[in-house]
Amino acid sequence: MLLVHMSDLHCGPKFKEDALLEAVDEINSLYPDVVVVTGDLTEDGLINEFREAKRYLSLIKCKHLIVGSGNHDARTTGYLLFPKFFGNPSSFTRIDNVAVMMLNSSRPDRDDGEIGYNQGLWMKSQLENCGEAFKIVALHHHLIPVPDTGMERNIVSDAGDLLWTLTRYGVNLVLCGHRHRPWTWVLGNLTVIHAGTVSTDRLRGFYQNTYNIIQIEGRKISASLKVVGGRECTLDQSSIEAVSSII
Ligand SMILES: [Fe+2]
Repeated sequence: MLLVHMSDLHCGPKFKEDALLEAVDEINSLYPDVVVVTGDLTEDGLINEFREAKRYLSLIKCKHLIVGSGNHDARTTGYLLFPKFFGNPSSFTRIDNVAVMMLNSSRPDRDDGEIGYNQGLWMKSQLENCGEAFKIVALHHHLIPVPDTGMERNIVSDAGDLLWTLTRYGVNLVLCGHRHRPWTWVLGNLTVIHAGTVSTDRLRGFYQNTYNIIQIEGRKISASLKVVGGRECTLDQSSIEAVSSII
């Protein structure tokens, strides 16, 4: 299964239309099985920004487009608009032997993230029914701190509970956005992949727009980092460091 992970479009004042259109062209040429978008579609949760995001994401040719909400989308009552454009920000999708759960970590007018008790219960009930599927959990906020992103301040507030659930239920892969800095951590059997920003100038630590290309075969994950309009490298720590040093 070929999965494309993109994040942090930020339609609004600092949005780079050219970057997103180029990324969409590249992604369509890959014929992915699923595209996961981990939030911050908009800058301020405004209705015109949602319209813009919807229009661009509609250009992606993929049967399974899974879209989550970020903290910027929950601003200015954007949390009321998100479902009208993209459906429930928490979702469960089963594609063959792969289960993808999108969690909503955003809260109205807050930059920090939270899964919350009730969503945590829902997540556990979904995971209990996954059987032997390859399990992917996606959320906007980062679950674990990311290097080169300044002071840590808005990780999911219940990250400990979430990490415990993920490891206890044998989740294989976590996809996050939020920090605009591609990175990966491997914790035992759990791989955590962070996406950079695909189309805003608000770059942090890694100064090019990127998205991730992830191939899943059985339990094996092969991930690469794609610079929009540029090179592709293996998504591992040393390769990311090497590419980030080229400005
Ligand atoms: Fe963002």
